[in-house]
Amino acid sequence: MEKKILFVASECSPFVKTGGLADVIGSLPQALKNQETDIRVILPLYEDIITNYFDNMEQVATIQVSVGWRKQEAVIYHYTHDDIPYYFIGNDYYFARKGIYGYYDDGERFVFFCRAVVDALSVLDFQPDVLHGHDWQAGLALSFAKILQPIDELKTVFTIHNIKYQGILPIDTFDELFSIPREHIPGIEWNGLLNCMKSGLFHADKITTVSPTYAEEIQTPYYGEGLYSLLKERQSDLSGILNGIDVEQFNPTKDPYIPKNYSDCREDKSENKQLLQEKLGLPIDGEIPLYVLISRLVDQKGLHLLQAILDEFLQHDVQVVVLGTGDYEFENYFYHAQQRNKQKFVAYLAFDEGIARHLYAASDFLLMPSLFEPCGLSQLIALQYKSVPIVRETGGLKDTITPYNELTSEGNGFSFTNYNAHDLLHVLTYSLRIYHDQEHWKKLHDNLNKCDFSWKTSAQSYQALYDSLLASVHDA
Ligand code: GLC
Repeated sequence: MEKKILFVASECSPFVKTGGLADVIGSLPQALKNQETDIRVILPLYEDIITNYFDNMEQVATIQVSVGWRKQEAVIYHYTHDDIPYYFIGNDYYFARKGIYGYYDDGERFVFFCRAVVDALSVLDFQPDVLHGHDWQAGLALSFAKILQPIDELKTVFTIHNIKYQGILPIDTFDELFSIPREHIPGIEWNGLLNCMKSGLFHADKITTVSPTYAEEIQTPYYGEGLYSLLKERQSDLSGILNGIDVEQFNPTKDPYIPKNYSDCREDKSENKQLLQEKLGLPIDGEIPLYVLISRLVDQKGLHLLQAILDEFLQHDVQVVVLGTGDYEFENYFYHAQQRNKQKFVAYLAFDEGIARHLYAASDFLLMPSLFEPCGLSQLIALQYKSVPIVRETGGLKDTITPYNELTSEGNGFSFTNYNAHDLLHVLTYSLRIYHDQEHWKKLHDNLNKCDFSWKTSAQSYQALYDSLLASVHDA
């Protein structure tokens, strides 16, 4: 039996990206698509997408969408990319702006988007069996679908990529923005506010998140960001499915961004390292261990730990490079750290995909001491490029990285448990010792070569979830 799945999301590579969500929405459909699965994706039509893709899009419908007492037009476009059909919701007032988020009316923009997605279902030539929303921006699509029932027996799945961001609006915007009866407020309200993520969780038949450990963590007050009690109640409908990565795209044997392609060769990696050192003005020496951090510079990423011990760690014969942009506090700190440690530390405060790939290829270690990490993609990319991840044992980091054990020679990285700066320093110093021990370093690399984090297994788990939901429809 054919399954029809519609992903609802706010970002998707290659069209628009601010974080890991875009990578997942851009690559999971490829892994899910098969003879029995017709998977499509619906997104807002942002200005950057208009600039880069509009000429090849086909207009399929125009609808009038209710936003409170007003009507807003949504023009729906269709575009096929790499055999996946995409739909885009166009409305210049809400989406023809620079970037994706960060506007005062983000809440209203995604109320509109979600309502437009559900209203579009009755005009599209595609009637999904499962509406699968990702993160808060898509939460209300599930709610509108359940409330307005545009399709009989439509099933809903909601995936949490990061529970920290929930899309919260003042309660009095209900009458202004939502054109549904007030009896539905309890399904959307949380702690006296309208909460788009809560509404997705409430109206979803099944809830997933992006790693088994995070699925457990978010049921606790420490990680649950105020929603843990709701998740605990829905425990039997909640599961964690680990993200994969597109192993064709992240492939050091043919990555066009890196100067020297390689499979598993220390000399080739070292050549990439020396070219990087030259580019960044660091002393050129292929033997010096190179640690990199490639990340948005925000609290979540555990940067306070690194701040506390960076100068101390730089006393060793090492080089450290940080790549990324984010909060002023961190950019400022790393900028000054570079002034103090010119021969050893570089802060590259921009996001540049080419440099990022070069860093994965050149580095010996990737740092990810996250405070929390739903799944994390950088550690998976690092494994592909044979850079050893050093992580805190949380969320997907815990599920993908096993600490190296000298006694058994098992493990594909280094890790520590508590959110504590000197635990990080301790594990960094330990990683240095293993780096200089040829026998252990080789065994660790042999383990890296055996890792497989392609989408295959995860795609099977999603298929099984859809099948179980649809079986309940057909049995009924
Ligand atoms: C979010 C999470 C990250 C996860 C990604 C994709 O960005 O912070 O851990 O890998 O979503 O699911």
